[in-house]
Amino acid sequence: MIDLSNKNALVTGAALGIGKGISKVLAEQGANVVVSDIDLEGAQRTSEEIVKSGGQSQSACLDVTSPDAAQSLLSDLLEQLGQIDIVVNNAGVVGADGWWERKVPSEDDWDTVLAINLRGVVNVSLAVEGSMKERKQGKIINIASIASRQGSPSIPHYNASKAGVVSWTQSHALQLAPYQINVNAICPGLLWTPLFEHLIGRPDFLDNQALEGLTGRQRFEKIIELGTPMQKEQTPEDIGKLAAFLASDDAHNITGQAINVDGGRRMN
Ligand SMILES: NC(=O)c1ccc[n+]([C@@H]2O[C@H](COP(=O)([O-])OP(=O)(O)OC[C@H]3O[C@@H](n4cnc5c(N)ncnc54)[C@H](O)[C@@H]3O)[C@@H](O)[C@H]2O)c1
Repeated sequence: MIDLSNKNALVTGAALGIGKGISKVLAEQGANVVVSDIDLEGAQRTSEEIVKSGGQSQSACLDVTSPDAAQSLLSDLLEQLGQIDIVVNNAGVVGADGWWERKVPSEDDWDTVLAINLRGVVNVSLAVEGSMKERKQGKIINIASIASRQGSPSIPHYNASKAGVVSWTQSHALQLAPYQINVNAICPGLLWTPLFEHLIGRPDFLDNQALEGLTGRQRFEKIIELGTPMQKEQTPEDIGKLAAFLASDDAHNITGQAINVDGGRRMN
């Protein structure tokens, strides 16, 4: 069994979707979880659910695009909790507001995606690394995507940002290896979260006759049927379980890796 008791974890973008699932699983394994999001009310709801089911949690507002905000939250948490043992950089988007209505990503879509998905990971990682280096321990887990593994004609900005997360994970793992700090990435496959509900609604997404006339959820299931060898969707809890393992002492010799949780959709 994974034991994360006496560990403090910070999860970004954890109001809903994958971040929420990761927060719940880390708390179930005993961690005290700081649920953060740009949407403070959503973060508070996730945190309250964790506490109601017997876990330890608190919430915080964090826009990951701001290095100052990341630094300030980390300073407050370190003062209050003494240490942050685990960071899960999960916050991610596919574009600026209304991106799902644009066939071609706008300049704003590119900037927003890079600012949140890539710079956001870097901002929070740099804000926490100093305290982890002092203690010569810590686990940083970056949520990339199977979109890191291959380009796409419809959301190239998203794929580029996620490939950047894998590259940054390797660089940061090399920088922090001398301090016994592990930095890894998880590449989730297909999850029915608000992000994917928008993605599937785009008329040009995976232009395929087999998807014509289907509802969003039916299209999602068809895409899995057509390209996921294990023929099933992934859940936030699936991602949380790998995050919990990578956050545990058992994973002390794993660093700089990007691991797919995708029912075999990508194999690399
Ligand atoms: N859903 C999928 O199939 C899938 C697959 C692979 C990877 N991912 C990745 O997993 C992560 C979570 O995705 P999801 O599907 O749960 O998305 P989601 O849209 O359901 O949730 C994203 C969360 O991030 C928050 N957020 C947005 N901008 C933020 C900012 N600037 N600062 C802090 N928080 C911010 C949102 O408020 C929201 O709570 C993302 O990095 C996404 O790219 C998702």
